[in-house]
Amino acid sequence: MATANRPARIVVLVSGAGTNLQALIDACADPAYGAEVVAVGADREAIEGLARAERAGIETFTRRLPEFATREEWDRSLAEVVASHEPDLVVLAGFMKLVGEGFLAALAPRVVNTHPALCPSFPGTTGPADALAHGVKVTGATLFVVDGGVDTGPIVAQVAVPVEDDDDVEALHERIKVAERGMLVDAVGRIAREGITITNRKVRFGS
Ligand code: GRF
Repeated sequence: MATANRPARIVVLVSGAGTNLQALIDACADPAYGAEVVAVGADREAIEGLARAERAGIETFTRRLPEFATREEWDRSLAEVVASHEPDLVVLAGFMKLVGEGFLAALAPRVVNTHPALCPSFPGTTGPADALAHGVKVTGATLFVVDGGVDTGPIVAQVAVPVEDDDDVEALHERIKVAERGMLVDAVGRIAREGITITNRKVRFGS
């Protein structure tokens, strides 16, 4: 993680708008934050997340699943390019693919993912829609350490967000994302500066 001489090295993977990535890039501008985004990767081309990285002068890479014969080959190539940047931490920030065994063998437990629901509720790619359909009054966002499951890993941080009567999926997800960005920046900074310890699924900051 961060030392007196250098900030923690972070690789961020994205698939879309990259507003969580932008929040991290902005936070890293302060040396006291203790982290630096050294590379940004994606599973698709021409997305705003990659454009945000380019505007910030951060190296980017793309690994598209259709360009590989098997999912395992894609996963291995993704792991290799991520590892080549020697990250202290990999942040999946709106990365819409499950990473596989090869990726986790190379990089876990240094991989965290942000999910727009309060885990273990509403895992998968439609968290805000599922929360809305279920009629919950409170949902939120979760940062967790990635394991082999779908949004099942040890929980680093969570933030609660109210569901309003007139919400549609877009309005609810936008409200979640405002809280999610704050949670992500806070928790990633603490991981960078303090490290984390995981004991029986329980995550604590500090090593
Ligand atoms: C976030 O809510 C993330 O949790 C979810 O997709 C959204 C990505 O937003 N998986 P952005 O690309 O960071 O703006």
